[in-house]
Amino acid sequence: MKAFPMTRNIGAELTGVHLGDASRDEGLFREIKALLLQYKVLFLRDQVITRAEHVAFASRFGELEDHPVAGSHPDHPGLVLIYRSDKKENYENNYHTDASWREKPPMGCVLRCIECPEVGGDTIWVNMEAAYAHLPEEIKQKISGLRAKHSIEHSFGAVMPIEERIKLAQAYPMVEHPVVRTHPETGNKILYVGSFTTHFSNYHTPENVRFGLDKTPGASLLLNYLLSQASIPEYQVRFRWRPNSVAIWDNRCTQHYAVHDYFPEPRKMERAGIRGDKPF
Ligand code: SIN
Repeated sequence: MKAFPMTRNIGAELTGVHLGDASRDEGLFREIKALLLQYKVLFLRDQVITRAEHVAFASRFGELEDHPVAGSHPDHPGLVLIYRSDKKENYENNYHTDASWREKPPMGCVLRCIECPEVGGDTIWVNMEAAYAHLPEEIKQKISGLRAKHSIEHSFGAVMPIEERIKLAQAYPMVEHPVVRTHPETGNKILYVGSFTTHFSNYHTPENVRFGLDKTPGASLLLNYLLSQASIPEYQVRFRWRPNSVAIWDNRCTQHYAVHDYFPEPRKMERAGIRGDKPF
């Protein structure tokens, strides 16, 4: 197995490995996991694997989980189907870390392309450790200790009838995470706000708020500034899909954005999301 870095900051292409073999071989799996911690997202081509092998490989990282809105494969629980053929379905084209609306968001994901357009439908990943490391010192100080709310309601719930949206919000109440989290395995600091983040929960202090007006506009300006960091190309890698290409990412320290530029061509992806820890 060889790893070829794709940018200076994030991403490597792995060659000489088949994920079906890795699903059965602990040593091989450990090598891949070490590379994942190093590169944050790994790309593999020509992975002709069964759904059972996809699930078995991802399960080596930990237990898989389904999604409350996106459906899973009926015979392979934990394999979420992201099948898009409609211009209106566009949840993935914003910078986000998967399911940060959970108390314990996924530690990572294994995504395989089933069908994709000839051109378009790329995915971008962002190194959010680099995004944190390059923040101006005064911003780092300002956000140290800040916490923010994350919600599923205002994204997946927005198109639902009110009663259904409220039910979704009751089943998955807003959660609070630190704005700067620490990677549980590497100890690195990560900027942890994305498209599921709605607002800071502890911004209204005398240091931050001179007049009431500082509170909502001031906090939103800061949140928007932090959210904008994911769109800086220096922190990114962009991947062109082909059928049987696979991406494995560390969901704790990255964000991603699936470019929705391919309608009316279909794009079919299958994602195994692996349970994670409570961010600290
Ligand atoms: C996701 O947002 O988890 C899916 C990304 C993709 O479809 O490329």
